[in-house]
Amino acid sequence: MRIAVVGSGYVGLVAGACFAELGHDVLLVDNDEHKLAALKLGECPIHEKFLPELLERHRGKRLDFTGDLADAVRHSQLIFIAVGTPPKDDGDADLSYVESVAQGIAGAIDDYKVVVEKSTVPVYTNSWVRKIMLLNGAPAELFDVASNPEFLREGTAVADFLYPDRIVVGADTDRCAQLLAQAYGPLTDGSYYKNPDAIPGPVTGPFQAHLIRTSAKSAELIKHASNAFLAMKISFINAVASVCEAVGADVEQVREGIGTDSRIGRRFLSPGVGYGGSCFPKDLLAFRSVARENGCHFGLLDETARVNEEQRNRFIRKVRKALWTLKGKKLAVLGLAFKNGTDDLRESPAVGIIKSLLKEGCAITAYDPAAMGRAAEEFGPNSAVRFAHGPYEALQGADACLVLTEWEDFAALDLARIKQLLRYPIVVDGRNLFKPAAMEEAGLHYYSIGRPDVVGAHSATVTSALKEAASKNEAISRNEAA
Ligand SMILES: NC(=O)c1ccc[n+]([C@@H]2O[C@H](COP(=O)([O-])OP(=O)(O)OC[C@H]3O[C@@H](n4cnc5c(N)ncnc54)[C@H](O)[C@@H]3O)[C@@H](O)[C@H]2O)c1
Repeated sequence: MRIAVVGSGYVGLVAGACFAELGHDVLLVDNDEHKLAALKLGECPIHEKFLPELLERHRGKRLDFTGDLADAVRHSQLIFIAVGTPPKDDGDADLSYVESVAQGIAGAIDDYKVVVEKSTVPVYTNSWVRKIMLLNGAPAELFDVASNPEFLREGTAVADFLYPDRIVVGADTDRCAQLLAQAYGPLTDGSYYKNPDAIPGPVTGPFQAHLIRTSAKSAELIKHASNAFLAMKISFINAVASVCEAVGADVEQVREGIGTDSRIGRRFLSPGVGYGGSCFPKDLLAFRSVARENGCHFGLLDETARVNEEQRNRFIRKVRKALWTLKGKKLAVLGLAFKNGTDDLRESPAVGIIKSLLKEGCAITAYDPAAMGRAAEEFGPNSAVRFAHGPYEALQGADACLVLTEWEDFAALDLARIKQLLRYPIVVDGRNLFKPAAMEEAGLHYYSIGRPDVVGAHSATVTSALKEAASKNEAISRNEAA
């Protein structure tokens, strides 16, 4: 099939590369000239497993890049809209990018096309896209608008796209539903997985993706409700973790006991510094707005967001508890991305926590395996954040180590070396990456989420050293002020 994907970001680029992998002829459209130039030069602008291989495999053959939306529309049967839908100040989704693409598509329609919402959008967007296209001159009989929400997770996006739990096709006419089903045919009939060069996925043996056909409105709601539910699961376990801390229980044991219930499941029950990224925070707010505008009170969503916000504050309190005072402290931060496997910093808890620590007067040396370039842009050249070339360099001489992203590499760090490099043997782990017993054995003071603190035999010595250092810092600041 001939497919256009408008918006070559985390979703569009992955979807476009994967559709080419399924045998379609794909044009990826973007209005960011730098991104287009990089893509045409053979670069992969995001960190995503298997994406460089797919781009290499199909670039210039079944996959091309363009800034010309009208040309891409004329060339294609299916046009996926995958532009951003960021939150506005009031929490509503900003649909201006979607609207501008819909206007552009309308002007170029010369034959029957299916316009597909791939971006996450509130219910009713489908009918708005249709109205905008009609107002901009698209003949009603020459297009349909469908909703095909994307459920990929950054870090495993390619495998998620090619081995989906389900494909949701929200279509109000059979004609467009059939075309969309055809686009995903190699996944739903299982032929893709028989290909010896298929990208490996999480399944062994024969596999066929499951396609769910719904109305366009239901598909829009499915995406918002899915993300809200997953965010709620994370906030739920974080609230349970707080109770565990209060009563001296271990949230990892509690999680094992809850997660093994097949009705609940283990996934997304990981306690930590809270959810982030470009989807959960914004989609939760947008879903709340949709509910409110339609007269439904959905207080569970408010509470989910509140717990998440509080989780970051709790983490700062943990750092304070471990270090007594924060002003003048030198902290090593391991992890900047909002989760492992990606370089995406949008709404990353690590970024929010670092900003709070900077306000408290801390100096930060950070390391992340993928997100350093984006972080350097985020914090700018004049901030008190330095970037190290590796985790051990970040730890050198720091007063404590903070773990903020669950990169597997961090879990494999040499604990004896961590202790030797740190000024004080303190690790505050916002992702429960380490085992408390191992930290204790290594002589590290270890603060994690929802588990008892490990404060070694030398705690009194460390505390008095901290107090001494804090008084020195105060004296220095007093002298500087004088
Ligand atoms: N990132 C995820 O994990 C994820 C997962 C599922 C769904 N989504 C949803 O998918 C949508 C896209 O998210 P993303 O993370 O890929 O965003 P992104 O910011 O990475 O990419 C959006 C792209 O659209 C381009 N763009 C904007 N306006 C354009 C226009 N008028 N014409 C052509 N290109 C234009 C931008 O230059 C950018 O490259 C959002 O609605 C998001 O909620 C994201």
